[in-house]
Amino acid sequence: MKSDNILVVGAAGQIGTELVPALRRIHGDLHVVAADLRPLAKEKKSAGPYVQLDVLNYGALATLITRYDINQVYLLAATLSAIGEKDPHRAWDLNMQSLLNILDLAREKRLAKVFWPSSIAVFGPDAPRTACPQDAVKSPSTVYGISKAAGEQWCQYYWNKYRVDIRSLRYPGLISHSAPPGGGTTDFAVDIFHQAVRHQKYTSFLPADTCLPMMYMSDAVRATMELMEAPANRLLVKTSYNLSAISFTPAQVAKSIARYIPAFTIDYAPDNRQSIADSWPSSLDDSAARNDWHWDHEYELAGITRDMLLHLVTGTELSLSGITDLLSPISL
Ligand code: NAD
Ligand code: SER
Repeated sequence: MKSDNILVVGAAGQIGTELVPALRRIHGDLHVVAADLRPLAKEKKSAGPYVQLDVLNYGALATLITRYDINQVYLLAATLSAIGEKDPHRAWDLNMQSLLNILDLAREKRLAKVFWPSSIAVFGPDAPRTACPQDAVKSPSTVYGISKAAGEQWCQYYWNKYRVDIRSLRYPGLISHSAPPGGGTTDFAVDIFHQAVRHQKYTSFLPADTCLPMMYMSDAVRATMELMEAPANRLLVKTSYNLSAISFTPAQVAKSIARYIPAFTIDYAPDNRQSIADSWPSSLDDSAARNDWHWDHEYELAGITRDMLLHLVTGTELSLSGITDLLSPISL
């Protein structure tokens, strides 16, 4: 059987940094091509091919797909919510044209499958705040959310009209230790761990009680790969699946960190990202994903905290008074 040849565009970002190695473990280093606008960071020794490329350059994308005989594309390049508000037209241009380029190439080159992430940002103030349903009304309040909501409709259109097999997840805020986040509203949930390890204090740009849906990166990567492996006839949602794990507030993650770093303190200086967070649901109903392709998350807040701190303290000179707790097994 012919092997899959996979292209990941936006591979140097928060998700790509963990998704590319995970795909390479399954498909082999040479079968997963990583591409990004940024040059490969010197410290990141790539096991497989890495190509510097602008996803807005249709011709360069087409050449790459032919050269590597690509049959699956994961499109991760985008401008995230907070940065998008600083230059809405630029965010719209990147988020929409990148998707249209990949959808057209998928049709033209008869790609087997495409993955494109959507976001909780498709929902706005008119959607239910808790357990937001799969088909809740979408009234996004950011250009990022508008681009994701429109993108979902394009995905469905290309399926209906051209039978392009495009699979999509509405990721919650993603937490990882391998790469910095790319300028979203949920970035506090990553920054707080870095600052806790470096300075034992954090100033949150969201208020203490703002609750948002979150997920550990290893769960998000697994969800992505499970969705892409699922039989096509089980995937009834042709826009994007709600995907959920846990929800927490800045105060709750601070408390979880203080279990290991008792000196850790948090204060609050909310900025314009608060209004973005306030427009999003605090939890999602992802029963369609759980029913259709048996999605289930692994990591709860305690497990995320422990794993983040374990990775981030490694190699630092910090000696945590709770380090023995870090090393003792707990429920994820
Ligand atoms: P990121 O900002 O960390 O990474 C995006 C990557 O795309 C960057 O490495 C950037 O250099 C690259 N890029 C930007 N413009 C490009 C271009 N013109 N051509 C090629 N590459 C380009 O983002 P991420 O967090 O990895 O998110 C990836 C996708 O997942 C995005 O679509 C995002 O909207 C979605 N998503 C992320 C989260 C999250 O919490 N991280 C949540 C929901 C959805
Ligand atoms: N984590 C993303 C953001 O905050 C949500 O899609 O922009």
